[in-house]
Amino acid sequence: MKRIVILISGRGSNMEAIVQRCAEQRWPAAVVAVIANRADAGGLAFARGRGIATAVVDHKAQPSREAFDAALAEAIDGYGPDLVVLAGFMRVLGAAFVARYQGRLLNIHPSLLPAFPGLHTHRRALAAGCKLSGATVHLVTADLDHGPIVMQSAVPVLAGDDEQALAARVLATEHVIYPLAVRWFVEGKLRLDDAGIVRQADGASQVLM
Ligand code: GAR
Repeated sequence: MKRIVILISGRGSNMEAIVQRCAEQRWPAAVVAVIANRADAGGLAFARGRGIATAVVDHKAQPSREAFDAALAEAIDGYGPDLVVLAGFMRVLGAAFVARYQGRLLNIHPSLLPAFPGLHTHRRALAAGCKLSGATVHLVTADLDHGPIVMQSAVPVLAGDDEQALAARVLATEHVIYPLAVRWFVEGKLRLDDAGIVRQADGASQVLM
């Protein structure tokens, strides 16, 4: 049974999708804790309601980024995770933190990486006149919103889209690809080849919607 810890900052809809799919599809895994950097993160209530342990490590209560990363790592390690999942976790994590969880730290980002790392992805995709957008699940490296790509979804950018409309279309695909990528991880189906590219043998690594 693989132990999953999920980090959130807000609504937590990706976390919910993972928790639900894990139970429905009887993955060889359990979400053992949900940790937020804000006490008012909406997703904490869902986790508590499902009987999942929750914790808050408030970045504002820490004197530095390094101190926050260390407090967060201590909280995470208390749950002995095999996999740490960033699901809308909106803090930049330092190199030491990333190294500690190397190869077992996943993130989802709402763009077709390597396009538009960082904030305001949908606004930037619209401003660039992109005709497609999407989401990317990747292994986390010290380089923000980079790292080996596990899975991507693509959606059309439609005439008349605003940020909210595009975000909603992309989010619907996140709820498909993130649980699938986590499932592949806990089932041991992801491999990094010599070039640092993720290979997996069980189904397509892209969803087009
Ligand atoms: C998602 O769209 C996720 O891709 C994005 O935040 C949202 C969280 O939604 N993450 C990032 O922008 C990270 N760079 P959720 O809390 O409902 O899962």
